[in-house]
Amino acid sequence: MSDSKIVKLLDESSNRSSELPLISGTLGPACIDIGTLYKDTGHFTYDPGYGSTASTKSAITYIDGDQGVLLYRGYPIEQLAEKSNFLEVSYLLLNGELPNKTQFEGFEHEITHHTMMHEAQKNFFQGFHHDAHPMAMLAAAVASLSAFYHDDLDVENPADRKMAAIRLIAKMPTIAAACFRYSIGWPVRYPRNNLEYVTRFLHMMFEVPSEPLTLNPVAAKALDLLFILHADHEQNASTSTVRLVGSTGANPYASIAAGITALWGPAHGGANEAVLKQLEEIGTPDNVEKAVLRAKDKNDSFRLMGFGHRVYKNFDPRAKIIREMCHKVLAELGVNDPLLEVAMKLEEAALKDDYFVERKLYPNVDFYSGIIYKALGIPTEMFTVMFAIARTSGWIAHWIEQHETPGSRIGRPRQIYTGADVRDYTPTAKR
Ligand code: CMC
Repeated sequence: MSDSKIVKLLDESSNRSSELPLISGTLGPACIDIGTLYKDTGHFTYDPGYGSTASTKSAITYIDGDQGVLLYRGYPIEQLAEKSNFLEVSYLLLNGELPNKTQFEGFEHEITHHTMMHEAQKNFFQGFHHDAHPMAMLAAAVASLSAFYHDDLDVENPADRKMAAIRLIAKMPTIAAACFRYSIGWPVRYPRNNLEYVTRFLHMMFEVPSEPLTLNPVAAKALDLLFILHADHEQNASTSTVRLVGSTGANPYASIAAGITALWGPAHGGANEAVLKQLEEIGTPDNVEKAVLRAKDKNDSFRLMGFGHRVYKNFDPRAKIIREMCHKVLAELGVNDPLLEVAMKLEEAALKDDYFVERKLYPNVDFYSGIIYKALGIPTEMFTVMFAIARTSGWIAHWIEQHETPGSRIGRPRQIYTGADVRDYTPTAKR
């Protein structure tokens, strides 16, 4: 890291100036450190949507949006997708290094032995309406963990932080499966700890008390891969939310619950559900052209869901992997989904359309993932819940990194005030 160069900024109206150092990371463009700008010049910066703002230093994930590169702790996503598994990736995100055999076995043991929900937590689900959206239930249930594990938790204590990470990664599939089962009126299943992480989750989702479940190993492999691809993505909206809430010293379960609510929006993780609904609405490849025309029409709020990304101005590397995997998984499971044909036609049409080319809008991670979830028997409303299970590892890794960083401050942006000038109160009779 070098912090040598200085950018000089002069406000000619007041003749006040600021010397702003450049901060470089290991990879990526250097950033202008504006920490003293207000003190030196009396001005804030204005960057709605944070298109030009780095909110933190982080050693977890690196994205090069122009080249379509994604690294977790330096390892290319393509290599992790081919060779690793979700729990190993979770260990990597949390600890910075890949585990050796003993470390992995220890981590897996800890996760496996924290999978159960508190028995009282099951009662929470009874309070929801039967058709409550599973993301609403998930956010509430995860926030409720802070009621079970609050008093004995010290966010300044590294061991307590680690235990929160283990509990969250372990319990998230159990809670997620409970959300699904409550919505369809099935009894909640306890986790079977003789199974590995993803298979255990699929059992909690689909096993009924009356007969054993036969699971195709292709399903677990595919879901594990999707979890790897969704595990982290640097300072996206939900991770930034976790960090903002975390910066106040809030309980980690409350911080992650906030991340879940941010993820739910259709511009973020909710896009996977929206993509499938949109593909269903389009219905057949013949209707693709009409959909593309609507997406380009500035008088229509319709957007192609699963297209575009704030950072990637090239192929999202995760989308490339998922696209290939989608064909393979459907073939291996013997599923013939006509929506795949609609998706491929839509991708083809958008990629050669000037509107999408000029704006560098490519398919993102959510474009093909829904077709795979559907082939695995996961209902559409649970798609974003799948994303949340995987992203929990990233969220909690960021929350820990934030607490390990000396001198961290509460997140507190400023604004440009556009309201009324100062004025006197008038009594009701005179208004
Ligand atoms: N369909 C049609 N036009 C689009 C789309 C789209 N999907 N995405 C962006 N544009 C246009 C947008 O109208 C704007 O056009 P103009 O310059 O003429 O005003 C231009 O492209 C730039 O868009 P933006 O909204 O300024 O870009 P952004 O970086 O603020 O938003 C995005 C990024 C992902 C929210 C947006 O591309 C989008 O809404 N995509 C659809 C939803 C989606 O797939 N979200 C998942 C994102 S990846 C996974 C995740 O984050 O969880």
